[in-house]
Amino acid sequence: MRKVLLSALIAAVPATMALAQSAEEETAKARRAFYTMLGYEMGGLAAMAQGKVDYDAETAKAHAADMVTLTTLHVGDFYAPGTSKDDLPGATRALPVIWEDMGAFQEKGQAFGAALMELNAAAGEGLDALRPAVGKVGGTCKACHDDFRAKDF
Ligand code: HEC
Repeated sequence: MRKVLLSALIAAVPATMALAQSAEEETAKARRAFYTMLGYEMGGLAAMAQGKVDYDAETAKAHAADMVTLTTLHVGDFYAPGTSKDDLPGATRALPVIWEDMGAFQEKGQAFGAALMELNAAAGEGLDALRPAVGKVGGTCKACHDDFRAKDF
C-alpha cells in the first residue's frame, strides 16, 4: 500500500510541474483572457455595424453593457511588473513601454472608456446610432494597440 502511494506521488510530480505556471505567466494569461472577452463583445457589435448580422437593439445593448461591466474590473493587477513581452517572450504582446509610460497607457484606456460610454448610450438607438459609436470605440482600441501591443508574440 505504501509503495503504491509513493509511486503515485512520484508519478504526479512531473505532471504538476509541467502544469505549473509562474504568477507572471498566470497574469499574462488572465490579461489576454480579459481582452479576448472585450474582443468578443466588440465583435458582436462590429458585425451589426458592418451589416454582417441584422441589427437587434437588445443584443446590441447587451454587448455594450457587458463591455462596460468588463471595464469595472480592477485591471491594474493585469499589469503587474514582470509581465511584459520582454519578460515573457511568446506569452504576451504587451510592450514594455506600458510600464515605462503608464500615464500615456492610462490615457488610451480613458479614451476607450469615454467612447464606450457613448456606445453604451447609442447601442439601443438603432443602426444609424450604433455605427459611428462602434467606429469610435474601435478607433480607441486600435490607438492603444498601435502604441502598446506588439504585432507578434
Ligand atoms: C489601453 C490599451 C488598450 C485598449 C484601450 C484596448 N486594448 Fe486590446 N490589448 C491591449 C494590450 C496591451 C494587449 C496585449 C495583451 C497581452 O498580450 O498580454 C491587447 C490585446 C488584445 C487582444 C488579443 C488577446 C489575446 O488573446 O492575446 C484582443 C482581441 C484585443 N486586445 C481587443 C481589444 C478591443 C476589441 C478593444 C476595444 C474595444 C481593445 N482591445 C482595447 C491594450 C488595449
